[in-house]
Amino acid sequence: MSKLSLRGVDVYAGLLDPAAQTAILADLRSVVKQAPFFRLKTRFGQSLSVQMTAAGQYGWFSDAKGYRYVDRHPDGQEWPAIPDSVMQVWEQVSGCARRPECCLVNLYRDTARMGLHQDRDEADFDCPVVSISLGDDALFRIGNVEKGGKNESLWLRSGDVAVLGGDARLVYHGIDKLRLGSSTLLQGGGRINLTLRVVT
Ligand code: SIN
Ligand code: MN
Repeated sequence: MSKLSLRGVDVYAGLLDPAAQTAILADLRSVVKQAPFFRLKTRFGQSLSVQMTAAGQYGWFSDAKGYRYVDRHPDGQEWPAIPDSVMQVWEQVSGCARRPECCLVNLYRDTARMGLHQDRDEADFDCPVVSISLGDDALFRIGNVEKGGKNESLWLRSGDVAVLGGDARLVYHGIDKLRLGSSTLLQGGGRINLTLRVVT
């Protein structure tokens, strides 16, 4: 494991060894069985290329009315609990006394990407967003708290954990592309990113 910081974002490279990654993935299989992946549209009607689901009290949702947290899966069921294996990662790196209320699960396949955005739909910015990467490498771009300006990228690999907290809690960030086939962790390839958030 090595820790680095880029534009205020702490990255614990290789925090999760292959056994820990496999254990989280096994727990995610039961999350996805209860709460299958779905594809959201922006308020402008464009489909997101990333498929999503969630665990915890809240999941994230987007439609013509905009972005928000919701307490049910689109099928009407409550979200499954956040697995202990994932909670442990929060405990290890968040430095936050509160527990996450949402574990957003993003599935990137093929050419899926995520445009530059801020995570700002949460009520308490004192708590960080903790991001866990599983599967193929992804080019993570980090900008500034304000829109625009200089930005820098780094490759996130399977088992890396990034923490957006403190002055970097509201930085713009996104995923430009994947290095498809760089990992064999996921059946069918691609990448899963988990973000743990305190919502209320
Ligand atoms: C996100 O910003 O919600 C996801 C970032 C990532 O996939 O690493
Ligand atoms: Mn984000």
